[in-house]
Amino acid sequence: MPKLRRPTPELAASFEELRDAVLRDGYNGWTGASAVALTDLPAYIQATRFWAKGQRISNGWVPSDRFWIVEDGVVVGEVDVRHRLNNFLLQFGGHIGYLTHPDHRNKGVATFALREGLKRLAKIGVKRVLITCLDDNQPSQRVIEKCGGVHIRDSKAKGPRRRRYVILL
Ligand SMILES: CC(C)(COP(=O)(O)OP(=O)(O)OC[C@H]1O[C@@H](n2cnc3c(N)ncnc32)[C@H](O)[C@@H]1OP(=O)(O)O)[C@@H](O)C(=O)NCCC(=O)NCCS
Repeated sequence: MPKLRRPTPELAASFEELRDAVLRDGYNGWTGASAVALTDLPAYIQATRFWAKGQRISNGWVPSDRFWIVEDGVVVGEVDVRHRLNNFLLQFGGHIGYLTHPDHRNKGVATFALREGLKRLAKIGVKRVLITCLDDNQPSQRVIEKCGGVHIRDSKAKGPRRRRYVILL
C-alpha cells in the first residue's frame, strides 16, 4: 500500500530517479515555481514546506500540499494538492495534479494519490473539486473517473483540448 509523505532529504535520491524517469518519458511536471525541482532538490524540498503553509508563494500560484507517493521506501509518484483555484487553475491545473513513475503505472498509484488528495481537500473545507487533463490522456481520465469525476465543459484555454471534471465532496 503506498503512503503520502512530505518531501524529505532522505527520499531525495529516490525522487530524483522518479523525476528523471518521468522526464525521459516526455512529461515535465515541474514548471514555473516548481522548476527548482529540476536543478536544486534541497531548495525544492524546502519550498514545498513553505507552500504548504501558504508562505513564499510565487505570483499566480496558490498554497498547496505537495506529497511524494512512497511504496516500500521508493518514491513512485508525486501529487500536488492545491488549496484553492485561481483563473489559471480553473482552466489548466485544477485542484490536484499527479504523476507516476513509468515503471509503476497501472497499479493504482495515481488513483490512490487522487483519493488521498480529495481527503486532504475535504479536511480544509473544499466542497467542489476541479480536476483537468488533456483530452488524449486516457490513463488520467480513467483515474479521475474511478474517483467519481463528472465531466463538465472543456477548458476555455487555447491549445490542445483539455477536459475538466468536478468531484463533489
Ligand atoms: C496519468 C498517470 C498519472 C496515471 O498513473 P497510474 O498510477 O498509472 O494510474 P492508475 O494505475 O491509478 O490508473 C490508470 C488507469 O488507466 C488505465 N489506462 C492505462 N492506459 C490506458 C489507455 N491507453 N487507455 C485507457 N485506459 C488506460 C489503466 O488500466 C488504469 O485503469 P484501471 O484501474 O481501470 O485498469 C500516469 O500515466 C502518468 O504519470 N502520466 C504522466 C503525467 C500525467 O499525465 N499526469 C496527469 C496530468 S492530468
